[in-house]
Amino acid sequence: DYIKVIKGISDLEAEVQKILGISQVLIVPGAYNPEYNKTELGRFAAGELKKILANRKDELTILAVTGGTTMAEVANTMTWDGENRQIIVIPGRGGLGEDVEIQANTIAATIAKKLGGTYRMLHVPDNLQETTLNSLCQEPQIKEVLDLLARANILVHGVGTAEEMAKRRGLSLSEINYLKEVGAVGEAFGFYFSEDGKIVYTTTSVGLKLDDLKRDDLLVIAIAEGEEKARAILSVVSPEYHDILITDEKTAREMLEIF
Ligand code: F6P
Repeated sequence: DYIKVIKGISDLEAEVQKILGISQVLIVPGAYNPEYNKTELGRFAAGELKKILANRKDELTILAVTGGTTMAEVANTMTWDGENRQIIVIPGRGGLGEDVEIQANTIAATIAKKLGGTYRMLHVPDNLQETTLNSLCQEPQIKEVLDLLARANILVHGVGTAEEMAKRRGLSLSEINYLKEVGAVGEAFGFYFSEDGKIVYTTTSVGLKLDDLKRDDLLVIAIAEGEEKARAILSVVSPEYHDILITDEKTAREMLEIF
């Protein structure tokens, strides 16, 4: 039976990989088990991340992360294995209006400690004017993180539905209506995507731009689960930006269903 389960999962991974066109899809089994929750996905992803880092032992790794409850599970379930690593963990983007527990800064610090590395924070308040943001970028402390981001080796990020993220960030009614009008379905690190994968709205912030994700030497990993997120994942994850998707069985089946 175990073999059957594993075989089923690898077939599913191959199918999802085909529709997304990315290099790898990793699916954590067990989503139909009543005891399954997001923690399982977090633990699985934390393990996969460590495997990737094991192959980069002799070089410095700059790891960028985003916020959200899924990424918080990755950070919280990651275990400290007593190993010190040449790794700097940084937030992928500044100030996206999340509670402190699920902010990228907090997650970066937790992951850095568990991996025996160091971290930098990106202290950028939300809803700043463009001109203020531009001058903030010249501040040495912020500039250092932005320079690190430009050289990041790995980005691990969550994906949300446009609707949920707009609510969570307290967007105004007119902004929410605008998102509906332009057909935003998915969100990742401040960018809102339509069903056909176009960026239809951007949160004003500093940090990674979508074009940065196209860099060949940046490994981009999306982590997301939940049937309600299937459409969002399909809109966000593309071969243009992504290398790996980590999700669960239920979400994967739903993605195939609606594709
Ligand atoms: O706000 C940070 C962020 O990573 C978003 O870009 C993403 O849509 C969201 O969090 C995912 O959050 P969650 O894992 O809680 O669904």
